[in-house]
Amino acid sequence: MYKFPKGQLIAALLLTCLGVSDGSFAQTSSGQALSASSKPWSNLGRAATAAEVKAWDIDVRADFVGLPKGAGSVTKGEEVWEAKCASCHGTFGESNEVFTPIVGGTSKKDIETGIVANLARPDFPQRTTVMKLSTLSTLWDYINRAMPWNAPKSLHVDEVYAVTAYILHLAEILPADFTLSDQNIAAVQKRIPNRHGKVKFAGLWDLKGKPDVQGEGCMSNCKVSAEVASILPDFARNAHGNLAEQSRLIGASRGADTSKPPLKEPLKVAMAVGASETPKLAAAETQSPSSLAKAQHCLACHAVAQKMVGPAFRDVAARYKGNAKAEALLISRISQGGSGNWGPIPMPAQPQLANDDAKTLARWILDGAK
Ligand code: HEC
Ligand code: HEC
Repeated sequence: MYKFPKGQLIAALLLTCLGVSDGSFAQTSSGQALSASSKPWSNLGRAATAAEVKAWDIDVRADFVGLPKGAGSVTKGEEVWEAKCASCHGTFGESNEVFTPIVGGTSKKDIETGIVANLARPDFPQRTTVMKLSTLSTLWDYINRAMPWNAPKSLHVDEVYAVTAYILHLAEILPADFTLSDQNIAAVQKRIPNRHGKVKFAGLWDLKGKPDVQGEGCMSNCKVSAEVASILPDFARNAHGNLAEQSRLIGASRGADTSKPPLKEPLKVAMAVGASETPKLAAAETQSPSSLAKAQHCLACHAVAQKMVGPAFRDVAARYKGNAKAEALLISRISQGGSGNWGPIPMPAQPQLANDDAKTLARWILDGAK
């Protein structure tokens, strides 16, 4: 530790005491006393540099203000897609497992009208990204800032152009020999299938000089004038199993119970397996294998009856039916992870899992995960 020579230490203490009594705060290293009026925090922090502001200021607006110069072809985009996107979104952007499909549900006619006809059909199974998209800048901006999910902001500007072009090609909006760039993106916007499809709900924006939300400074016995609630439309329910039963790897599980209330009638259009096949997790079952699977985050990647990131537990049970070595094999695969047995995505090792718990889970899975 640095020690002041004795004399200096006393001088410094004295000055500090004096400083407090006359209202000034401190003694600077060069010996000048700060005046009472100068703020003690005025020396803290600094203005952000132009380069720092630039690094954060990456939004691209609907009129393409903020879009960096660059270009990328559909062909190049296919390479980016295959290497960095297809594992989660499917070769044709059709995957319904990691997220709702990106491509599908739009037609040549929609490109002419600027309104996606299928959005008006309640029986249409999914709303894909391209169906909902109104401003191409949003797609570009989202990919640029958020994708790939596991490595956001890792794409070069030209790769963002390229992969955006490829998505639009998959959706039959752009031809295979197209190169998307800052020069022609505004023209491509005019081919976006749902470009006229945005609605303005009067209650939210049509203010007529009055805010649509009125606040009162009420802290107790407040009058509730309106209940705010939300519902999931049937087509959005259970497409990925019951969210309430899936723990995310990061953060608390806050999924809504998408199996309730029960559907009045089965969905007409065939789609991912519905509510009836997802396991019910009753409060009484807190020590059950299924809650162990939930607590261990297995259900972030697995469901009982349908493939998610990993295989459906029932498919695992079916594969190993009658195999005497299955239990030992699964205990080891659950603890140590595995790859190549079910597809291209590996299962990570679970070093936190006690041996007994691995055994309980292996038995439960082999028994049909009931
Ligand atoms: C590791 C899995 C994974 C990879 C790889 C991945 N994505 Fe995604 N993607 C997701 C997830 C999960 C979401 C939903 C994220 C959310 O809503 O927070 C998503 C959302 C999207 C969306 C928005 C969909 C919408 O309608 O809101 C687009 C567009 C997209 N990804 C494009 C890409 C592109 C392009 C790549 C490759 C450069 C890519 N993704 C790579 C997992 C992935
Ligand atoms: C991050 C995602 C993820 C998590 C978390 C996860 N798994 Fe998996 N699991 C997978 C994937 C992907 C596979 C397929 C691996 C393969 O193809 O070999 C798999 C495979 C399996 C298999 C089949 C093994 C085989 O070789 O046939 C079992 C059983 C299994 N997981 C159980 C569990 C259990 C129990 C947990 C929780 C302790 C768990 N998994 C957590 C992704 C995951």
